[in-house]
Amino acid sequence: MLELAGIGRRYRVAGGEVTALADVDLVFPRGSLTTIVGRSGCGKTTLLRILAGLDQPSEGEIRRPGAKAPRIGVVFQEPRLMPWLDVAGNVGFALRGRQPRPVIAERCAAALALVGLAAFAGAMPAQLSGGMAQRVAIARALVQEPELLLLDEPFAALDAFTRRAMQNELVAIWQRSRPTIVFVTHDVEEAVLLGERALEMQAGRVAGHEDIALPYPRDPTDPQVNHHRRAILERLMAPLAAGAPLSHQGEPR
Ligand SMILES: Nc1ncnc2c1ncn2[C@@H]1O[C@H](COP(=O)(O)OP(=O)(O)OP(=O)(O)O)[C@@H](O)[C@H]1O
Ligand SMILES: [Mg+2]
Repeated sequence: MLELAGIGRRYRVAGGEVTALADVDLVFPRGSLTTIVGRSGCGKTTLLRILAGLDQPSEGEIRRPGAKAPRIGVVFQEPRLMPWLDVAGNVGFALRGRQPRPVIAERCAAALALVGLAAFAGAMPAQLSGGMAQRVAIARALVQEPELLLLDEPFAALDAFTRRAMQNELVAIWQRSRPTIVFVTHDVEEAVLLGERALEMQAGRVAGHEDIALPYPRDPTDPQVNHHRRAILERLMAPLAAGAPLSHQGEPR
């Protein structure tokens, strides 16, 4: 289990202060699949970076009761590959020196097969399309067999067909090995297709949530999926309709 209590994060920007997160209280049960959805700038990446330990909150606490430090896999919004290493080198980088070479090679090959890039192990990052590079980044996170898998809009750069395939693959991986997954997206449909629970973020706060108890794999044309989608959209769009500022950034300091 992973718990956030009273988390806030403020940034100093151009002499002023931006509140990226405020009063975030959340529990992520072990083995759960949570999606986080909200408009640009609402604090999704900031929250994920704090969960990953890549950023420290300005206030509040992260609790991992009874647990040792988990293996964490992170997929960022952009691929962040090392351009001087080939695809297999990138995927296996974190395993170097910790596993025998043949084991690393085998695990890299399996991870690349999962993302449909088995034939590109020897390619260089510059030779890949944007979507292929992002799939390499996903393989790099999976190869570590993470207990906590954090994904920041990982499929945003993929075409609709590849995205559907990758969504199903992610669910299959989750069902097989049950990592705790936190998946950030700005796509409400994706949040519903993947999440057991979708958290709605608005202006740095968790403004609502939707529990989604539908079996997997989910069908985007299922009326029940649409029902959840509409409920989330209605809540997320409400402040806009009421004429409130787009985000906290628009508010006077
Ligand atoms: N390193 C930083 N320094 C200063 N301000 C930051 C920093 N990172 C984020 N912010 C601010 O925090 C707020 C939330 O940013 P964040 O990146 O978490 O949004 P997001 O929900 O991930 O948006 P997007 O969907 O566009 O990726 C924004 O106002 C942003 O300007
Ligand atoms: Mg972001």
